[in-house]
Amino acid sequence: MSADKFKDQFAKAAAEAFRVVYPNKYAEAGDSQVFNSDFILGKLDKPKDARMGRFAFPVFPYTRFLADKPPVIAENVAAETNKIIDGMNNRLVTCHAASGFLNGQVDFETLAAETLREAIDNKDRFGSSDLGGGKTVLVEYSSPNIAKPFGVGHLRSTVIGNSLRRIFKKLGYHTVGMNFLGDWGTQFGKMIVAFQKWGTEATDKSQVSDLLELYVRFHDVAQRDESLNEQARQAFKKLEEGDPEMTRLWKEFKTISMAEFERIYDILGVQYDEITSEAFLNDKMDAVIERLEKDGLTEISQGALVIDLKDPQLPPCLLKKADGATLYATRDITGMVYRWNKYRFVESLYVVGASQADHFKQAFKAVEMMEEAENLPLEDRMTGKVKHIPFGWVKFDDQTMSTRRGNIILLEEVIDRAVALARKKIEEKNPDLKTIEETASMIGVGAVIFSQLSVRRVKDVNFIWEEVLSFEGETGPYLQYTHARLSSLLRKYNGQVTADIDVGLLNQEEEQRIIEILADYSVVISDSAANYEPNFIATYLLKLAGAFNKFYQRKDQDGRIDKIISDNAKLTTARIALVKAVQIVIKDGLYLLGLQAPEEM
Ligand code: ARG
Repeated sequence: MSADKFKDQFAKAAAEAFRVVYPNKYAEAGDSQVFNSDFILGKLDKPKDARMGRFAFPVFPYTRFLADKPPVIAENVAAETNKIIDGMNNRLVTCHAASGFLNGQVDFETLAAETLREAIDNKDRFGSSDLGGGKTVLVEYSSPNIAKPFGVGHLRSTVIGNSLRRIFKKLGYHTVGMNFLGDWGTQFGKMIVAFQKWGTEATDKSQVSDLLELYVRFHDVAQRDESLNEQARQAFKKLEEGDPEMTRLWKEFKTISMAEFERIYDILGVQYDEITSEAFLNDKMDAVIERLEKDGLTEISQGALVIDLKDPQLPPCLLKKADGATLYATRDITGMVYRWNKYRFVESLYVVGASQADHFKQAFKAVEMMEEAENLPLEDRMTGKVKHIPFGWVKFDDQTMSTRRGNIILLEEVIDRAVALARKKIEEKNPDLKTIEETASMIGVGAVIFSQLSVRRVKDVNFIWEEVLSFEGETGPYLQYTHARLSSLLRKYNGQVTADIDVGLLNQEEEQRIIEILADYSVVISDSAANYEPNFIATYLLKLAGAFNKFYQRKDQDGRIDKIISDNAKLTTARIALVKAVQIVIKDGLYLLGLQAPEEM
């Protein structure tokens, strides 16, 4: 099954047709290869020339197996496919043979009727499927560090991960959104020392920026006074041993940080199912280290406990330093074991910057060696299911706008400025709007979120203020503006929206283009999941909004705007159905990306 019923019908019929045309080969091969509809679905492509059909299946790779020439295979199978579809109760697609391809054509009226009906009947369920069948996908995102500010790097992880979680959910997966806080490591020794020297006891008003100031000051002074680093090591050691005062301070830092992070997640509208952390794994590491030792994978190198990963590309994986301290990799390997035992996922995604690629390669390889050494049955292995989902940097055009403390651009300042700019624009454009505050925050936040998804994941984001907040161009506000325009049309129409329309009336090129795009929605969602790429949905929505705005501004032969709501009642009903379907998809697509869809702006 795919998410596209046209493809489903085509693949089902074509698989059956292969069986009818080549019964001997079928007996030989069984229900595999070309004779299987899932196989055909997996090979369907979009023809370069859209007039050839909505999708195409190439037959030439099977000429040897079927012992026939491609045109002959295509002709015979196409004829049989059509016969089979005729026997089904509802023809959705017609099969044509063309130069070694089986092309699937959907006639426009069928496509329009089916697509509009599905969108209008299913609303925000349009485009969803049961592809996931309730299987678990774990998505880790955000994962900021305690006592450090929430910077734009963590923003990108947060936005991509939150979107992936929504996308997988839409495809019928059981999703677990996980935050993995960086709350352990030698930097906490430094924090404690700095706090004891220069800090004041925390109050309700304590901020992460206060903590950062301490951290920066520590580094400043430590450059002159080497003894500070030794004090920090001692402090962290005490913390590891459970010293009550050290633990109290550490918890204090955590509380201050979490309050700030939660405020940010609230503003961004980001949710989690489980918040875990590095420290949470402290009492679980020994068991995993023992397991690795038992598997015969560890060795001592210069006093440290390491795994030789047997890969010239990868340095040994450090588990324990000579002084017994564990490392980032130790915690991630332990975390992987914990997550696997708890969730038995089909996929576990780590949405973390590309700069950590080597770290994940090492951790995944260590786990792979462990599972291999233990000779685990395939279904008990997480290898191949754990994946690093890397992304590029975020660069800011204007380095001066934000107070750069400790070289970090603070996300809250970015959001505040975006909301202020959005408010200014709305006040200019629509001063009478009653919900200026609320709308400004939807738009400002939406602009920031969309900026992170407007390019492919692995590419760097160039954050340029003017571009990000523009109401035209490839931005979040543009999509939100289009949604508001659609909503306003529907308010103006103020009647029953129905899919019982004469689709033949939607005969303008602009209208047909919209239908074609709408019909692709479910496929775009599954493609974006398969590639872990919310950007596919972002690009798709821009295309849809562009097509809609063309339609909205269409002129008739006399050069007048061809109004969507006109005196022609039948045509108006048909066009309103189209407007409604576009509104549904834009709103849902924005939701999948993590943006809100204002009714008015
Ligand atoms: N806290 C880390 C950082 O900010 C990111 C953690 C990523 N997740 C993981 N499982 N290692 O660099």
